[in-house]
Amino acid sequence: MTVPVIAIDGPSGSGKGTIARRVAEALGYHLLDSGALYRLTAIAAKNNGVSLDDETRLAKLAADLDIQFDSNDEGSERIWLAGEDVTLEVRKESTGTGASAVAAIPKVREALLVRQRAFEKAPGLVADGRDMGTHVFTSAALKIFLTASAGERARRRHKQLNDKGIDVSLAALSRDIEDRDRRDSERSVAPLKPAKDARILDSSGKSIEAVTQTVLDWVAEL
Ligand code: DC
Repeated sequence: MTVPVIAIDGPSGSGKGTIARRVAEALGYHLLDSGALYRLTAIAAKNNGVSLDDETRLAKLAADLDIQFDSNDEGSERIWLAGEDVTLEVRKESTGTGASAVAAIPKVREALLVRQRAFEKAPGLVADGRDMGTHVFTSAALKIFLTASAGERARRRHKQLNDKGIDVSLAALSRDIEDRDRRDSERSVAPLKPAKDARILDSSGKSIEAVTQTVLDWVAEL
């Protein structure tokens, strides 16, 4: 029996992470936050003093990532890398920028491919990223490309970081998001673009509940 995969791709701040989590919870499916793997590779590089242009060592770090997840007393998830709690660091803008740089390296993407595909388990998987529908899960049952206007994405990210106690200016964030979008869309390997058979979903001005419901309606049509 094939395991149903829901691929949700899109640019930073489109709400992929939140929507993917809600959809996975509603369906009782597994969840893959593929961006976290690129972020953890960037942190591992920093912690091991590996430069972002040492492609061979970066690919080895990606292949050997020692990751653990658990939740604290309030139920929020924590991420450990090689025994160190990196929950806060993983969400930092600087980590996102590092992730976008390591993500442009073909050997790193290849090293993470097997790891990502291992998440495809019954009863199903919701996978969130940039190339879930175009490369990692090409035969996904449903492919969604989630977008939102650049301004709205910057505002959402700003609120998300502020809520976590991370202080960053909206202007700097907008610039960061534009740079990252450009790098992710223009790279030669697995660039950010909708799969040919993806359904486009624009979340601008829509609530999390409304967007989640649209995805669940599409799942129900399968
Ligand atoms: O979704 P995110 O912000 O956590 O992703 C961080 C970076 O990782 C993003 O700038 C591009 C890269 N990425 C990728 O290239 N492919 C994926 N499937 C997920 C993330």
